[in-house]
Amino acid sequence: MEKILPKDFIFGGATAAYQAEGATHEDGKGPVAWDKYLKENYWYTAEPASDFYHKYPIDLKLAQEYGINGIRVSIAWSRIFPEGYGKVNYKGVEFYHKLFAECHKRNVEPFVTLHHFDTPEILHENGDFLNRENIDHFVDYAEFCFKEYPEINYWTTFNEIGPIGEGQYLIGKFPPGIKYDLAKVFQSHHNMMVAHARTVKLFKDGGYNGEIGVVHALPTKYPYDPENPEDVRAAELDDIIHNKFILDATFLGKYSDETIKGVEHILAVNGGKLDLRPEDFKVLNAAKNLNDFLGINYYMSDWMKAFDGDTEITHNSTGNKGGSKYQIKGVGQRVFDVDVPRTDWDWMIYPKGLYDQIMRVKKDYPNYKKIYITENGLGYKDVFENNTVYDDARIDYVKKHLEVIADAISDGANVKGYFIWSLMDVFSWSNGYEKRYGLFYVDFKTQKRYPKKSAEWYKKISDTHIV
Ligand code: BG6
Repeated sequence: MEKILPKDFIFGGATAAYQAEGATHEDGKGPVAWDKYLKENYWYTAEPASDFYHKYPIDLKLAQEYGINGIRVSIAWSRIFPEGYGKVNYKGVEFYHKLFAECHKRNVEPFVTLHHFDTPEILHENGDFLNRENIDHFVDYAEFCFKEYPEINYWTTFNEIGPIGEGQYLIGKFPPGIKYDLAKVFQSHHNMMVAHARTVKLFKDGGYNGEIGVVHALPTKYPYDPENPEDVRAAELDDIIHNKFILDATFLGKYSDETIKGVEHILAVNGGKLDLRPEDFKVLNAAKNLNDFLGINYYMSDWMKAFDGDTEITHNSTGNKGGSKYQIKGVGQRVFDVDVPRTDWDWMIYPKGLYDQIMRVKKDYPNYKKIYITENGLGYKDVFENNTVYDDARIDYVKKHLEVIADAISDGANVKGYFIWSLMDVFSWSNGYEKRYGLFYVDFKTQKRYPKKSAEWYKKISDTHIV
């Protein structure tokens, strides 16, 4: 059955500075931890990425031609402040003025993220967001951007506070590559949420132009056996790690009793303590009703069973199905033998999980104002032939997710737009250049762009608003 998306619904495409721009040392850009980390631990680097630093006019022209009226871009903090704070690099500042002007010229509204995984190297080395000094540096950087770029109407503080802490301190696939330290995960989540809240408050108090929000990755967690209370508990605990802790901080300005009990249990089993200060909660509380929007990145759901053995997590970075393992002592274990398709990277494809997640936000956090689906898409080993990619699997994936968004809107959720990850192919942080998501195929050698079949399809949807 056809489903209709509202007239003012945005059909966007998402990118991130480090994954798209390339030019990692050009025009005075400072280093980020990823530069060294990729060289030392993976088989690729952020050069050339999609050379967006030079090719953005081409990407924006394509976006306009294919009916895309919004783009998520992020500012590379170290292009503005090469050392994270202090000396300003005006060539970097200028680059973003030019990028934003091009977006507006093409009627592609820029949704700008201040931090998409790329903390400047010096700040990363002094502890990243585990070091509270870096909260101050982030707020100063944000304030600089608010003053410098009044042309921006939509600001996002952070992209995916959840996966940052988990990638850095649980799974160990992001720098500094620490594994199984759940206290660090929660502390990083908490400190970044404090940084978010301080920034939102400053933005509102300063009367700056536009709206502000945060983007959370929210994978939906289900019990493997819904009749088994232990599996139900496993799903709840894993949800606290990935979703509930940061959602509580965002919209309640505190952690609910359930969340606190869950965290206490997880740390009692796995060790570690948190530093949560009364003044942090003043800040969180002051910002809880000031978020103009919530961005939801949704790719997958997970099914959880109770688990009490040793923690072991293996990341599937190669796209060989079956390569991932996720089991945390006293929390639970991810299981794959459910009747749900999964990608070659073991991501379970379950559109209903997006519907459930949107409705959960609506129900549990009624002070949310509006939602944008800021990332969703299919990572695939695309086959390039006849100057295109016949990516029917991607079309099917996006269609099914847009359908459930239409359902959620019919059921009263205020969802205002969708940004496919990704606009054009970019590289994947911990999976390289072969895991592609774009509407536009990028030949990473020549940096030429080719519309995929999904781009043609997306244009039709954006023209008609009928899925
Ligand atoms: C999100 C990030 O986690 O998912 C993107 O915001 C990322 O930066 C995307 O690329 C897809 O993840 P992956 O690991 O497949 O590249």
